[in-house]
Amino acid sequence: MSVAEVQAVPANAAPERVLIFDTTLRDGEQTPGVHLNAPEKLEIARQLARLGVDVIEAGFPAASPADFAAVQAVARAISGATVAALARALPQDIQRAWEAIGQARQPRLHVFLATSPVHMQYKLRKSPPEVLEMAESAVRLARSLCSEVEFSAEDATRSDWEFLAEVCRRVVRAGATVVNIPDTVGYSTPEEMRRLFRFLGQAVPELREYGAILSVHCHDDLGMAVANSLAAVEGGARQVECTLNGLGERAGNAALEEIVMALHTRRDYFAAQARVAPPRLATEQLYPSSQLVQSLTGVFVPPNKAIVGANAFAHESGIHQDGVLKERSTYEIMTPASVGVPESRLVLGKLSGRHAFRERLRQLGHELDGEQLSRAFQRFQELADRKGELSDADLVAIATGEAGPVPERYVLRYLHVVSGTGTVPTATVVLSVDGEERQDSAVGDGPVNAAFRAVQRLVGQRAELAGYSLRAVTGGADAVGEVTVRVRNDGRQYLGRGRSTDVIEASVQAYLHALNKMAEDAKTAGDFGNEQPVPKTGDEQPACVP
Ligand code: KIV
Ligand code: ZN
Repeated sequence: MSVAEVQAVPANAAPERVLIFDTTLRDGEQTPGVHLNAPEKLEIARQLARLGVDVIEAGFPAASPADFAAVQAVARAISGATVAALARALPQDIQRAWEAIGQARQPRLHVFLATSPVHMQYKLRKSPPEVLEMAESAVRLARSLCSEVEFSAEDATRSDWEFLAEVCRRVVRAGATVVNIPDTVGYSTPEEMRRLFRFLGQAVPELREYGAILSVHCHDDLGMAVANSLAAVEGGARQVECTLNGLGERAGNAALEEIVMALHTRRDYFAAQARVAPPRLATEQLYPSSQLVQSLTGVFVPPNKAIVGANAFAHESGIHQDGVLKERSTYEIMTPASVGVPESRLVLGKLSGRHAFRERLRQLGHELDGEQLSRAFQRFQELADRKGELSDADLVAIATGEAGPVPERYVLRYLHVVSGTGTVPTATVVLSVDGEERQDSAVGDGPVNAAFRAVQRLVGQRAELAGYSLRAVTGGADAVGEVTVRVRNDGRQYLGRGRSTDVIEASVQAYLHALNKMAEDAKTAGDFGNEQPVPKTGDEQPACVP
């Protein structure tokens, strides 16, 4: 069939719901500099389940022992959503992924293999018939283990369409229940995506025969990931893969919050064009989810980011303000409440009780209990004593300080810094290291540098400081400052966060948080017998190919 003969979606088709496949924990974690440990992945996964996504891709178990452990923890903990794990089309990867997710209530194996000429020739060094064979046998193996199998044709949009259709036919016959068509390098355009999906819908009758669906997965290299994903839905895709805040490799993936709100807000359009119903998500959990991911990854969205940016619902010009006051819909196509942006400026203060504190945190997407809640409430009372009233941002800052707890090998006991004009900045630090108190002092170019040097002398770590950033998370001169520190060791980066009204203390806390994660990771690697990490996706090495 020629591409020109491709038809639109039949007008009498019954409306179908678009499934949301979240890959924040896998492709999102491939954002340069982002590394999430198991408790952090678990916290995000729980929030994704609250949000109501259909599939949570928890990671790539063959990539490292730490990722294996994190995927396994997510698989065991989550109910109400399918938990997927990624694997190259190699038996050892597929087995490893299955070991990690086999205990999930609804597991899915996600196998990928490149199908474009450039990937097959230079990366895989395989001929098209060999790739067909490899895809089919990988899917067959995966399906012998798991009843849900997704196959991704990596770099699909730069593949020959007829060859891609043949790959789809073969993998569906071999047992794939979902066939994903990634725009791996963000190269396609909306019109091209619409046509490609219509073409595949017709050229692969096996999709209907075997009850399999098409999925789309777009990257944002040319800024078209969301538009391309929505166009694919118009062309027949029934699953969209995306990430919170658009995190992901290079320029990122399609942003989940934008896809979901486009399908909701323009349900009329998508019902008419594509016969689809919007995803079944608790959209008021979008903003809390975005906040959580920002604080755990250290990647902050710009203020003008659609749906979740600080200005997404702010009206600046007089004409707009006047319009909104008279009738909101003049300039607002969605309400802030519909995506969970807190409308009330409700503030909690030192007289607020533990119940109100916990309830407000829950509304903001942070579910704390037991010890975590007690510690957070204590910090809330201390801060409320100093500041009087605390805003939502203060509360999120307190709650995320409790997120992703890491065993604390290094604990700050005391910090004294001398700095000022004409003074050599000097810091004295007392740390508890494995329960033993140690003290040292150092000078530096500034107070933070001096404090970091003192910490380095105490912990004896040679890890390289790969990044440092400071931002005010709340307003006013008594704002809580949030410091994000990245530490690099053996090719891995560890993100640490610290928050305090004292930015030097916040800096030291962030540094220790990163060092504690590094120490924990080294321990986990030891537990797994020091296996070498496999590179992240896109690196099928010929040596590993059977
Ligand atoms: O972008 C891509 O092709 C991927 C696949 C592994 C699905 O992330
Ligand atoms: Zn991707």
